Amino acid sequence: MQTLFLTPLDSARAAEILRAGGLVGIPTETVYGLGANGLNPEAVSRIFQAKGRPQDNPLILHIPEPSWLGRYCRDIPPQAWTLAEQFWPGPMTMILFRKSLVPDQVTAGLDTVGMRCPSHSVCQEIIRFADVPVAAPSGNTSGRPSPTTAQHMLEDMNGKIDAIVDGGPCTVGVESTIIDLTCTPPRLLRPGGVTLEQLRQVLGQVEVDPAVTRLMGAGEKPKAPGMKYRHYAPKAPVTVVTGEPSKTAAYIAAHAGAGDGIICFDEFMSLFTSRSAIRPVMDLGPAGDKEEQARHIFDALRAFDHTCVPAIWAQCPDTAGIGLAIANRLNKAAGFHIVEIP
Ligand code: TXA
Ligand code: MG
Repeated sequence: MQTLFLTPLDSARAAEILRAGGLVGIPTETVYGLGANGLNPEAVSRIFQAKGRPQDNPLILHIPEPSWLGRYCRDIPPQAWTLAEQFWPGPMTMILFRKSLVPDQVTAGLDTVGMRCPSHSVCQEIIRFADVPVAAPSGNTSGRPSPTTAQHMLEDMNGKIDAIVDGGPCTVGVESTIIDLTCTPPRLLRPGGVTLEQLRQVLGQVEVDPAVTRLMGAGEKPKAPGMKYRHYAPKAPVTVVTGEPSKTAAYIAAHAGAGDGIICFDEFMSLFTSRSAIRPVMDLGPAGDKEEQARHIFDALRAFDHTCVPAIWAQCPDTAGIGLAIANRLNKAAGFHIVEIP
């Protein structure tokens, strides 16, 4: 299959392909998604084939405005409308009870469905033109880092999908926050662009699913099925180092082998690129700018796919704000192999 490379001017074309049951790579503010008509079971099944995604991992539905929620969800609590008012369109997915017209292929048979209203203008336009909810997981091959540019997505999906729309680099860089509103208190299933602090301001108490901060033991089941999978399983072991940035940089400099890959903050690049110790280094962004770090995290992990470094070391921000999402993605890549520097 030839994958068409489309521009934002081709939104109507992309929508037509979706309506006809095809697969389209769509830009969102978080990461690129692999979209299909969420009401067409065959089209949705093709998403799983293209990604090599386990069948038990449900998809989320993308809608252009909150008023569509009632079409696909039932027993919507008032909190959902308040959250939608505060954070939609934007990087937040709500888990709600589904109506029966949502195909089992989308929800992997669950009684609930993830709903998201993205803010990316091109994505909004495509969904409005298609006039169907768009089921879309992140546009990577299962197990690889999520794509934050159209090029990344092509790397994984060229020849496997009908088209991809290039909407530029994603401005958030990590996937949406997932908040489950089918339980009391509401539960954070995946940290993302909308922070835990922001959610607590609106909802009061919010529980954090254990899968966010630690490895699930055998027999344990995270509420978001996808959280049990490792996002990025490089051959090389990844070690995440947390603590005060100058200390974590010093720790990595002291422990990393000559050819090891490094993911570090701007300020410490020179420590790892000096002539005496040239190592493959990916810049995460300034230590004090977590928004910038979020935009680079998947790119940094993806870059090491093309190398054969024996090990990877990563500096990690603290978990305040969007730091929780960055730490979660790094820790998952590392299989929660974390060194904490006091
Ligand atoms: O930012 C995002 O959310 C991106 C863009 C493309 O919108 N999408 C995305 O989708 O990250 P995906 O499939 O890669 O991640 C969705 C996560 C998975 O971990 C899945 O298990 C979980 O959401 N999920 C989906 N439906 C669920 C449900 N009904 N209950 C619990 N978890 C659910
Ligand atoms: Mg994903």
